[in-house]
Amino acid sequence: MAQVKEISVVSLNTEEFIKEKVAEISQIVGSGVAINALSGGVDSSVVTMLGHMALKDRLKTYFIDNGIMREGEPQQIVSVFNKLGVSVEVIDAQDEFFSALKGIIDPEEKREAITQTFYKEVFGRLVKKSGAKYLLQGTILTDVDETVAGIKRQHNVFEQLGIDTQEAFGYKIIEPLVQLRKDGVRKIAEATGLPLAIFNRMPFPGPALCARVIGEATRERIALVRKATSILEDELVSVKAFQYMAILHNDRVTGMRDNKREFGQQIEIRCWDSIDARQARPTRLDFNILEKLASRIVSELPGVVSVTYNIATKPPSTMEAI
Ligand code: XMP
Repeated sequence: MAQVKEISVVSLNTEEFIKEKVAEISQIVGSGVAINALSGGVDSSVVTMLGHMALKDRLKTYFIDNGIMREGEPQQIVSVFNKLGVSVEVIDAQDEFFSALKGIIDPEEKREAITQTFYKEVFGRLVKKSGAKYLLQGTILTDVDETVAGIKRQHNVFEQLGIDTQEAFGYKIIEPLVQLRKDGVRKIAEATGLPLAIFNRMPFPGPALCARVIGEATRERIALVRKATSILEDELVSVKAFQYMAILHNDRVTGMRDNKREFGQQIEIRCWDSIDARQARPTRLDFNILEKLASRIVSELPGVVSVTYNIATKPPSTMEAI
C-alpha cells in the first residue's frame, strides 16, 4: 500500500497545486475522455474544476441522483455549475439505489451497497457510454486514513485498500486531492473560482442521507430525515460550525400526541466544531435554538416524538451516525 504524502494547509501553494494537478490530469488522460461525478460537495466540486481546466469537453460531469441527497440538491448544484460554464448531466438512479439498499441494516453493508451501485453499476454504464477510461474523484486524506484504520469504510477509497479499480470496475481512478485535508481543499476551491456557497459548504458524506438513517434506508425513512435536515439547515444557517446533521434512529420510544400514546420516532441532532474532521466537539448551541429546532421537528414531522442533542466528542463518537 503506497503511503500518501500529506500537504498541510500552511505549506499549500494554491497556484502551484492547481498547475501541477491540471498538468497531471492532462498527462494521464492524454487525448482520451474522463468522467466524474459531481455531488456539489467541496471535494467533488474542486475535482470538477480541475478536470475541466485540464480536459475541457473531454471531461463528462454527471450528477447521480441517487434519491438520498438533500432537498432540491440536484437542481441547485447543476445551476451553480452551469453558471460557471460547466455542463452537468443528471442521471436518475433512484430506483437502483433503493433496491440495492433494501433490507440492509448493517452500516458497513449499507456503505458497500452504495459503493457497488455507484462504482460498478452506474459509473460502469457511464464509462461505457462515454468511452472514458478514467474516473476523476475527490478522495481526501481523511477518507483514506479512516478507511485504512478500519474506522469507516469511506465509499470512495480503493487503491489504499489494495483494490484494483481497473479489475473491479473496468476503469482507473484519478484522485487529485488525496494529499489534502478539508481545510486545504477549501483553499483550492476558492482559488479555482468556485463561489463561496460551494467552497464554504458544509461537508456532506458520499453515502449522503443514508449515513444518517440508523437501520434500513427506505424511501420513507430517507424522506423523513431529509425533512429534518432541511429544518436543521434552515434554523442553524447562521451558526458557525464545521457540520450539523439530523439522524433518524431505528428504535422507537413512547410519546404522546393529542392525549394518545404514540410509540414514535426519534431524531438526534449533531452539531460539530472541528478543524479537519479528525477530532470534533459538540457546538455549544444556544438552548433557545435547540428548543426551536425540537418544536419544529415534532410539529412538522408527524410520528417524531423525541429530539435529542449529542454531547459526546469525536473520538469516541464519529461525526456521522453510521
Ligand atoms: P466521520 O463520521 O467519519 O466523518 O467522523 C468525518 C467526516 O467525513 C464525512 N464522511 C464521509 N464522507 N464518504 C464521504 O465522502 C463517507 O463514507 C463518509 N463518512 C463520513 C463526514 O460527513 C464528516 O465530515
